[in-house]
Amino acid sequence: RKRIGVMTSGGDAPGMNAAVRAVVRMSIAKGCEPYAIFEGYEGLVKGGDLIKKMNWEDVRGWQSEGGTLIGTARCKEFRERPGRLAAAKNLILSGIDALIICGGDGSLTGADIFRSEWKGLLDELVQNKELTQAQTDQFQHLNIVGLVGSIDNDMSSTDATIGAYSSLTRICQSVDFIDATAYSHSRAFVVEVMGRHCGWLALMAGVSTGADFVFLPEKPPANGWEDEMCDIIRKHRALGKRKTIVIVAEGAIDRELNPISASYVKDILVSKLRLDTRITTLGHVQRGGTACAYDRMLATLQGVEAVEAVLESTPDTPSPMIAINENKITRKPLMDAVKLTQAVAACIQNKDFDGAMSLRDAEFEE
Ligand code: F6P
Repeated sequence: RKRIGVMTSGGDAPGMNAAVRAVVRMSIAKGCEPYAIFEGYEGLVKGGDLIKKMNWEDVRGWQSEGGTLIGTARCKEFRERPGRLAAAKNLILSGIDALIICGGDGSLTGADIFRSEWKGLLDELVQNKELTQAQTDQFQHLNIVGLVGSIDNDMSSTDATIGAYSSLTRICQSVDFIDATAYSHSRAFVVEVMGRHCGWLALMAGVSTGADFVFLPEKPPANGWEDEMCDIIRKHRALGKRKTIVIVAEGAIDRELNPISASYVKDILVSKLRLDTRITTLGHVQRGGTACAYDRMLATLQGVEAVEAVLESTPDTPSPMIAINENKITRKPLMDAVKLTQAVAACIQNKDFDGAMSLRDAEFEE
């Protein structure tokens, strides 16, 4: 019976548990044996109790649970070859040669490197007499399938990552709460949201809450944005608006790549508009809590697809990433998606903001 490992890696995201649940149950339904790797790559490197066979009932009720119940960790050892050797050995000893990983682009790239080195790792383990040839013979190919779990929605080639809509929901609820107090005092609030180098959460939160102004990493404002922002807010106030909400993505930058901080935006609102202004940094409240319905559904459908992908893969097919495109669950070559994601980041680093936007547009026109 084929053994399939499932793990979560990188920052936790609501919906990861639903993904693990779906992988566990679909594996069992297909006659395979699912294994959970606890604590992300650390579990692979350390092995032992951190690699555990899962039963149908072990994941009962996991759809609604926030975070990741099998844990996640940033693992330095796996970045070095000795760590990956230990990981390969632990997998062979557990009889696992297929891994479904739910994480961000860094975690998924690490998995693909592991797959490409697999044969060499096994040869080295045999040479070092840590494993026998007979032990490795039936595991000549490592199968990797990626599920993208991140609140940031920062992976190219998929419309949504697992966790992004739950986080967006939480941000909108928080801004609604802030609205009430802002309205009461006729105040301005600068709300800083997560997203690392991606502005999706900030942009969609701005659209969903009717914010006055939004700062994003991908589309830095033109020089002199301070006046533009103040003109817009003045106009809104003149129309009778009693509250002002400015959303700043944590990775927001200006056209010279200098960070735009919430405190600088606050200073402008105070000095130029004389608005009584407060800053709210939402922090990890955006990442915790239960998964919204969309993420439960997305993670479940993608977890099912990931198991199908494992069972259909051949040594020659590139590692797939399970995506969603125009409401259909799809498979994309994992490393193509990673490369496209990195190409957007490189454009921003080179101040080629139009290039970054056209890469994103091209992705949607695909
Ligand atoms: O990638 C998810 C994320 O929450 C980002 O939005 C944020 O920049 C980062 O992780 C925070 O990381 P940590 O939890 O390690 O502080």
